[in-house]
Amino acid sequence: MREVIISVSVTYRALTGNGLLSELGERVFGNVGNRRYCVISDDNVAPIYMSRALESLSKAGLDACSYVFPSGEKHKTLETVAGILDFLAKEHFTRSDALIALGGGIVGDVTGFVSSVYQRGIRFVSVPTTVLSAVDSSVGGKTGVNLGGLKNQVGTFWQPSLVLCDPETFRTLPSEQFASGMAEVIKYAALFSEKFGDRLLSDFNTEDVIAECIEFKRRVVSEDERDTGVRQLLNLGHTFGHAVEKISDNYYCHGQAVAIGMVMAFKAAVKLGVCPAGETEKLTALLTKFGLPLTAGFSEKEMLDAMQSDKKRLGGRISLVLPRRFGECFLYETDMSQLPSIVAAAL
Ligand code: GLY
Repeated sequence: MREVIISVSVTYRALTGNGLLSELGERVFGNVGNRRYCVISDDNVAPIYMSRALESLSKAGLDACSYVFPSGEKHKTLETVAGILDFLAKEHFTRSDALIALGGGIVGDVTGFVSSVYQRGIRFVSVPTTVLSAVDSSVGGKTGVNLGGLKNQVGTFWQPSLVLCDPETFRTLPSEQFASGMAEVIKYAALFSEKFGDRLLSDFNTEDVIAECIEFKRRVVSEDERDTGVRQLLNLGHTFGHAVEKISDNYYCHGQAVAIGMVMAFKAAVKLGVCPAGETEKLTALLTKFGLPLTAGFSEKEMLDAMQSDKKRLGGRISLVLPRRFGECFLYETDMSQLPSIVAAAL
């Protein structure tokens, strides 16, 4: 088992280890301490893992109930939040009780948000069951739901009390979702470590890779919990990627779109003269190894139209993450009027 200790406004452990889901009860008993939990999941994950989670909690002498909502981005809404809040109130949950998010990024973001507002804030445990949520959203305390077609428009910063990741749960992921998560893993290599990228190209142990990604994220959020500086580097590939997701009407899932977005960021950096051309090959070799797309083939106009509404646009300026080389990136802030030439360079 691997452990990373995250010290931000609160301190908590992220544990990664095969078989940990069956130890959920004893781990929350030892690390969180509350006696009563509501395990929140979606209707994809609950049929596979809910009974194991509840059994483990009961074996540790803890009271537990469960709440399951429909899976998918279209249920990442305030209506879903209201449904959970109503349920907790009916079950007489109090501030000495806690929630457990069992699932991928949507379950984690929704449960984290509910935790942050129910009775002005209760504790929650994150149990990510996808690569994507294990390496990114389960750590760092961003919570939220979508509003009016815009992603994560309503949210809070609310840190979990424990993160427990069992990589054996990835075995039931569809291969496309596993690859999607690997795009975020590759993102850490492109951002912070060429060496880590080299290891991903050879044989690797999933438990170690997840723990190392959590360690990269720990360093970033320890420096910038509220996302006002260095944490924005984690958006590598996301500004172009969100446009790709939008134009394709989610034909490309998040990780695939981020993969395409990262290639675009590298191409733009090469054309802007801030990154040597050979660095893009390291990225494309990794994306290819994990079956991720390198391009979507969208036109400059389609990309520009989709990017106009990107929420990172602030008062006519846009912030992009660009590489200096594979393993080192920086924030490139520019005027929106420069966007057409950047998009042209990126295609
Ligand atoms: N997903 C990016 C972040 O946590 O800041």
